[in-house]
Amino acid sequence: MSAVFGAFKRFYAAFISPPRPLNVETASPPLKFGILGAAAIAPPALVLPAKSHPEVELYAVAARDINRAQNFAKKHGFKKWYGGKDGYQELLDDPAIDVVYNPLPNGLHYEWTMKALAAGKHVLLEKPSGNTAEETRRMFSLADQKGLVLLEAFHYRFHPAIQRVRAIIDSGELGAIKEVNASLAFPKGLIGNDDIRMNYDIGGGAMMDCGCYPLSCVRYLTSNNPSAVISATAIRYTGDPRIDTGTTANLTFASSEPSGEPVKSTIKCDFAIPLRLGFIPRMPEVSVRTVCERGSVELFNFVMPVIYHSITVTPDSGVSRTEKAYTFEGGKGEEWWSTYRYQLEAFVDKVKGRTPQTWMSPEDSIANMEWIEKIYEESGLGSRPQSTYVLPTA
Ligand SMILES: *[C@@H]1O[C@H](CO)[C@@H](O)[C@H](O)[C@H]1NC(C)=O
Ligand SMILES: *[C@@H]1O[C@H](CO)[C@@H](O)[C@H](O)[C@H]1NC(C)=O
Repeated sequence: MSAVFGAFKRFYAAFISPPRPLNVETASPPLKFGILGAAAIAPPALVLPAKSHPEVELYAVAARDINRAQNFAKKHGFKKWYGGKDGYQELLDDPAIDVVYNPLPNGLHYEWTMKALAAGKHVLLEKPSGNTAEETRRMFSLADQKGLVLLEAFHYRFHPAIQRVRAIIDSGELGAIKEVNASLAFPKGLIGNDDIRMNYDIGGGAMMDCGCYPLSCVRYLTSNNPSAVISATAIRYTGDPRIDTGTTANLTFASSEPSGEPVKSTIKCDFAIPLRLGFIPRMPEVSVRTVCERGSVELFNFVMPVIYHSITVTPDSGVSRTEKAYTFEGGKGEEWWSTYRYQLEAFVDKVKGRTPQTWMSPEDSIANMEWIEKIYEESGLGSRPQSTYVLPTA
């Protein structure tokens, strides 16, 4: 009962009505954020986390349709809105804006991130960072040239839960990793055929949208990149065989021991796990399970740990235990901080020149994209099309 109540309290504070920040007077001047597109991800990923961050101001939103932009702005308390054919560029040209949040469809990430960086804005960019690793490389190279912060929004990395799992692995308590599996799969019915995720030209596909998480997660827990894609199988969308509605891939990683066996890893993503017996919805698959030489550790719910998660450590000999990690010991954060809230804290710290609790390097984002492409190559679907946009030279 109290577990249910705790989950509800955290959910309410994270996603319905975040408490106001306490330190508004002493905080440094807020960064003004502008959003490209009135996307459905924006409220949980930025709008709600911003409410409890004294250094974030929700300033402007742009959408193709000005009415949509205006409604979004009014509903969520933004001062300004831009719309129409030039709306996105007008937002980028607004000199008051410090940071641009880019939740556009994957195939537009490159063009609009390049334009935002060219306009001198820091960018918080939704995952996956681009359609290809080459796009990602170019975006980070421009950010570097301009001295701007660019972050791919792999929000789960900023939460204490996944960091606790990695600390358990790194402590050596269970010995070297032998195997690590991660899944992100949703029951059928959440994503329709008209969803942008089903559109190849703008970077659709399950491996792009949700497979990027388990891939990122197994790379994080092994502190390594894969050595090979052993096999990868895609469930192809009947409406467009270049789109996967689900992908399973077997990877290997080099052992952390000099002469150890390679680490095995299976990652899985699915937009539409079939109903059981044709009508019973399945539970989402949101776990990461690691088997080490002397025991295993499993994190249930690595993507939305604020609502509920559990870390189960099972040594081969001795007693097993369950841990929770909603906050960092001695660090910033509250039990109800979502992954997105922790991420926003780190992002603002970085822009303000402070040291964030955690950060994701450009190399990390580039490698994730490289391995997404390798998995698509192995499954036979191929990379998503690279943007043809060319930033005019100033
Ligand atoms: C991955 O490996 C497992 C275990 O060896 C096997 O059962 C499964 O079919 C493989 N999956 C793919 C997609 O090759
Ligand atoms: C990982 O997945 C593979 C393929 O489904 C399976 O054979 C293996 O038992 C799984 N291992 C763990 C630790 O879950």
